[in-house]
Amino acid sequence: MCGIAGYVGPRNAIEVVYDQLKRLEYRGYDSAGIAFLNGGSGIKIVKKAGKLTELGKALGDDVPEAHIAIAHSRWATHGGPTDENAHPHFDQFEDIALIHNGIIENYLELRTELAKDGHVFHSETDTEVAAHIIGREFSRGVPLEEAVRVAVGKMRGAFAFVAFSRQEATKFVAARNFSPLIVGLGDGENMVASDVPALLPYTRDVIYLEDDRVATITTSGVTIQDLDGNVMETPVNHVDWDLSAAEKGGHEHFMIKEIMEQPEVVRGCLAGRIDEGGKVRLEQVFSDQVWHGIDRVNIISCGTAYHAGLMGKYLFEKMLRLPTDVFFSSEFRYSDPLLSPDSLAVFISQSGETIDSLAALRLCKQRRIRTLGIINVVGSAISRECDRTVFTQAGPEISVASTKAYTAQCLVLKLLALYIAQVREMPGVRVDEHVAELRSLAGKFESALQVSAQVKTLAEKFIDAKLAFFLGRNADAHATREGALKFKEICYIPTQECPAGEMKHGPLALIEKGTLAVFGATDPDIREKVGSNIREIQARGGFAWVITTDNDDSLDTVGDLVTKIPSTNDPYLSALLSVIPMQLFSYHLANLKGLEIDQPRNLAKSVTVE
Ligand code: M6R
Repeated sequence: MCGIAGYVGPRNAIEVVYDQLKRLEYRGYDSAGIAFLNGGSGIKIVKKAGKLTELGKALGDDVPEAHIAIAHSRWATHGGPTDENAHPHFDQFEDIALIHNGIIENYLELRTELAKDGHVFHSETDTEVAAHIIGREFSRGVPLEEAVRVAVGKMRGAFAFVAFSRQEATKFVAARNFSPLIVGLGDGENMVASDVPALLPYTRDVIYLEDDRVATITTSGVTIQDLDGNVMETPVNHVDWDLSAAEKGGHEHFMIKEIMEQPEVVRGCLAGRIDEGGKVRLEQVFSDQVWHGIDRVNIISCGTAYHAGLMGKYLFEKMLRLPTDVFFSSEFRYSDPLLSPDSLAVFISQSGETIDSLAALRLCKQRRIRTLGIINVVGSAISRECDRTVFTQAGPEISVASTKAYTAQCLVLKLLALYIAQVREMPGVRVDEHVAELRSLAGKFESALQVSAQVKTLAEKFIDAKLAFFLGRNADAHATREGALKFKEICYIPTQECPAGEMKHGPLALIEKGTLAVFGATDPDIREKVGSNIREIQARGGFAWVITTDNDDSLDTVGDLVTKIPSTNDPYLSALLSVIPMQLFSYHLANLKGLEIDQPRNLAKSVTVE
């Protein structure tokens, strides 16, 4: 998704914002640009389609000295990824340069109005419209921050933007409505970015800008106002993340680093949440009375987080007998959902900024439904707006393909289910036994990662695959769905994922000689049936890769390749562990193909447009 960077201070601002954009590359983008004050000759904009290196070439070796600059990496929404559509954009008079994330929904209407006044546009973007509106106000003699406030009032949609002017080039102004924006506070220098890693080399003190706030940023300070111009007190947060935690840590890609981090993620997620007495402690959640009253759970999320939601449904219904539905956030908002007043809406999101989920959350709040977030990024919009949030504590996830966040999301769901069982004193649930199982889980993740070499050999065999099936039953069906998403995201190979028993009702027609079928077969209660499904595939010439637990040998002679993961006493956790070989398989295959693993084509880490 688009990246925003801005700097004012004594360093060379062009070098700083370029470096900040580099640190946002993981978000995915297709063009990039910089605006800076070019001595006495006004604002200069340099922008190029393609990767940052193209922008670097356009800037040349002899980078000019500037002490204010803004920069942007764009992921195309309105208009293709061209030099013209890249940000920054000028206003009509070339007095103001502006960068923008998100979408201005009424931009056509605004553009028509401006065109009638003689404004000429040089791009197809909604962004240029924002620059022109601000420029028009500014040309009437109001300060830049006031011009920005007026513009925000005229625009509909989800956006964040940053602008500075030729005339007042000691400050830039940033505004947020829905899309993330973070102000970094330095010593004699200040900055802004759309994500924390861009700021970490320069400062750890940050302000998460709220919606409908305008920040005026100079070398000496930051003033935050609401849309009426009232100065707002805003807390400063200290970011503890180590910079190295946001870098690759010696691995070739962030994705493999994040896969390998999972034992640590399990420890981090459970830390302080299970006690010596075999109980679950979740301090941030609702009172016992609230838990007793909840009659239904709706889990709302996207992509990998949606797959974690499916695991949650399995768990809540099986363990708690609590009716649970799982919704794609993008569908939920427009489906006029039937929501019981005593239901709980659970929002799962790594970034906490996914606009579809944020919009669904706001709908639930309008309907006065109780909301709970399961979020990784502290300070993110969804985490702030949910009634309560349980953080997944997985650390920054940089690779677009989510891996460790999924594990942490599933673990928080497990902790939550155990916590509810504890509060509701459910007779059939031995919380202490589940907690004992959780204690040994990090070690089991370590063992599961040992399959990497075996899985790499399999990846070599299927490097030219044209299609792959991902199949399982019960929790294994949900886990294999997540395996399939990883495979299509980074290997660019189509997949068919469905419960294994469903194959014979249609998808089986796609099996040909040598077609790969990945089977999750970790649940002992249904393993025999999965064995039959494996044979159905093989009878049509398919190749069955079976992932099962190391305490079972019933499928050893059935699968064409059998991968063993450590056994647990809990089908939910076994299914969760089975995702590790699938993550590794996708990673190795994509790497063997030489694909761009951390930033797969067409995708973005934080999806902040609907
Ligand atoms: O930040 P979120 O968890 O809300 O993101 C949701 C999806 O966009 C995300 O999981 C996406 O599907 C990933 N690319 C999956 O690897």
